Amino acid sequence: MRKKIVAGNWKMNGTYEEGQKLTSEIVNMVKDELKDEVTIVLNPPFVHLQSVKKLIGDSKAIFLGAQNCSDKASGAYTGEISAAMLASFGASYVIIGHSERREYFKESNKELTGKVNQALENGLSPIFCCGEPLEIREQDTHVEYVTQQLTESLFSLSEEQMKKIVIAYEPIWAIGTGKTASSEQAQEMHAAIRQHIGNKYGASVSDDLSILYGGSCKPDNAQELFSKADVDGGLIGGASLKSRDFVDIIKSF
Ligand code: PGA
Repeated sequence: MRKKIVAGNWKMNGTYEEGQKLTSEIVNMVKDELKDEVTIVLNPPFVHLQSVKKLIGDSKAIFLGAQNCSDKASGAYTGEISAAMLASFGASYVIIGHSERREYFKESNKELTGKVNQALENGLSPIFCCGEPLEIREQDTHVEYVTQQLTESLFSLSEEQMKKIVIAYEPIWAIGTGKTASSEQAQEMHAAIRQHIGNKYGASVSDDLSILYGGSCKPDNAQELFSKADVDGGLIGGASLKSRDFVDIIKSF
């Protein structure tokens, strides 16, 4: 059985106090309103990791994640954060290859392989992001584009390593724009991703792979998106900064 996962990507938002408030509210709502059926991941900025982890406490449902890690193990890389550091602060997940990292920080598919390897070596599950820009969608080559991203970054992994990967499909034209992919568009791509992974690693791996949708996912569209056979949850940006919206999205399952 594949996991249902809802992950909140705070991006570069929130002071210490705001991060504490948001986390406390989410922890309390989850305790009061949800059974532990969905895996919830909070991905705050690095500087919040320790304090968020403390507030999560011994929750069985909520896990800690980061938004990025280095492709290097350690050393003279000023400003970088290693996967080993994240693991030592109690992180279980790390987002890798978000489109904002690819676009603004020029992360290439090859560099992302290094990050995925570092995450896996340190026991973290990568939430590997893929997704096409608008012009590719308009040319109707989005499936080829996304499967190529997966091939170039992930297909050197072993079967055991691939089992630890979570995929997030995030069409770039839907991120932070208020434009959501329709549930049919999401399902088409999620099914293609599962097929592509299955062709390489076999159905037992691809059947268990959690594929999340990201891109303007909100309480009012989450239920429709999550109702699709190959949509196993969401990677939530803007709406994860409001505790009520984030928990309502989780409740959409
Ligand atoms: P959004 O961001 O929900 O604000 O569109 C999603 C993401 O970038 O992970």
